Amino acid sequence: MSLAGKRVLLIVSGGIAAYKALELVRLLRREGCGVTCVMTPAAAEFVTPLSLQALSENRVYHELFSLTDESEMGHIQLSRAADLVVVAPASADILARMAGGHASDLATTLLLATDKRVLVAPSMNVRMWEHDATRANMATLASRGVAVVGPDEGAMACNEYGFGRLAEPPMILAAIRALLDGPQPLAGRHALVTSGPTHEPIDPVRYIANRSSGRQGHAIAAALARLGARVTLVSGPVAIPDPAGVLVIQVETGRQMLAACQQALPADIAVFAAAVADWRTDMAPLKLKKAPGAPPPGLSLVANPDILATISQGAGRPALVVGFAAETNDVLANAQAKLARKGCDWIVANDVGEGSDVMGGTENAVQLVTAAGVETWPRLPKDAVAARLADRIADQIRGALS
Ligand code: CTP
Repeated sequence: MSLAGKRVLLIVSGGIAAYKALELVRLLRREGCGVTCVMTPAAAEFVTPLSLQALSENRVYHELFSLTDESEMGHIQLSRAADLVVVAPASADILARMAGGHASDLATTLLLATDKRVLVAPSMNVRMWEHDATRANMATLASRGVAVVGPDEGAMACNEYGFGRLAEPPMILAAIRALLDGPQPLAGRHALVTSGPTHEPIDPVRYIANRSSGRQGHAIAAALARLGARVTLVSGPVAIPDPAGVLVIQVETGRQMLAACQQALPADIAVFAAAVADWRTDMAPLKLKKAPGAPPPGLSLVANPDILATISQGAGRPALVVGFAAETNDVLANAQAKLARKGCDWIVANDVGEGSDVMGGTENAVQLVTAAGVETWPRLPKDAVAARLADRIADQIRGALS
């Protein structure tokens, strides 16, 4: 796939990673992609306009008033002349200003005026990335359809380690290619995905949980977003980063997960990959204590709502509802029974028996159970299972809703 003839407006914001923008420009030019660069004032402290100009073979814009001259291209025109607007690196500050709708310099003015898709490649210190303010800003941007690549995990210039490193230029290039050239069969569709375990409190310090890592559900959310869907991911407590370009709603319990799913409707597609606890107990208001010689407390369990069945059988049912079946035995028979009992369209069945290393692991071997039959897929990384499932969903949706 070549980017020849495409045009990217590249906004470079301040930060130590700004030097990687030079490599990105070089990669884009090598593919024949036209690049116009805009720098924030802070970016000019890290790389020179001259370097970007030489590599892009184009004029570099870096001050708001440089566009006031009648002979210059106006803001609106500059923001719309490209096929895609890319912000790389995107500092915490520019992401906050984008989320707030500011137009305080040339870069943010263009971002507010553009009618093109926007891709951001965040880059900042791990604590800034994990700060609630940044998370809220990213959720706002995702809900507006802004695509995200990275950040990566690794050592940082500030001697800390974690998520916050700018994605490597080849990864940013791949994300640009996917947005400009990649098929977007799910554009205009809304997908709801659940992921991770739920935590059902026993008392203020203890809870019932399971081994789900959220990897498979998160990968499905990312794969659907890559195909152009607007994705709402309702996630239980997990220790993995939010997938790119997805609105993430964090919950703890099964009942909260159901409420968040119902609130996210309407959706065209729903994929229920979460390992929802089947039972909960009434939470003791105070920590349960061991009285000397007393027997352990009995837990009386009550059933949690079944989210998949509720949404499959409720009003406003998505056109395609996909459930999972995590089984340790009789995988196919159990999956087929679940398909009928829950009222969903497909079940992705997987063997989570001892030694399968699926729950909490990075690979999955699944069987897709539909009314038409059973497909057995090879054991694949969870990302690849997600990509394949997203492609199948796109094919199905094209047929069902066209
Ligand atoms: N599921 C759900 N809400 C629940 C339980 C399960 O939405 N309270 C969904 C899961 O996300 C999955 C499917 O139902 O898509 C099957 O989950 P699984 O745990 O395999 O089956 P259960 O319905 O819990 O049945 P069992 O535990 O008896 O196998």
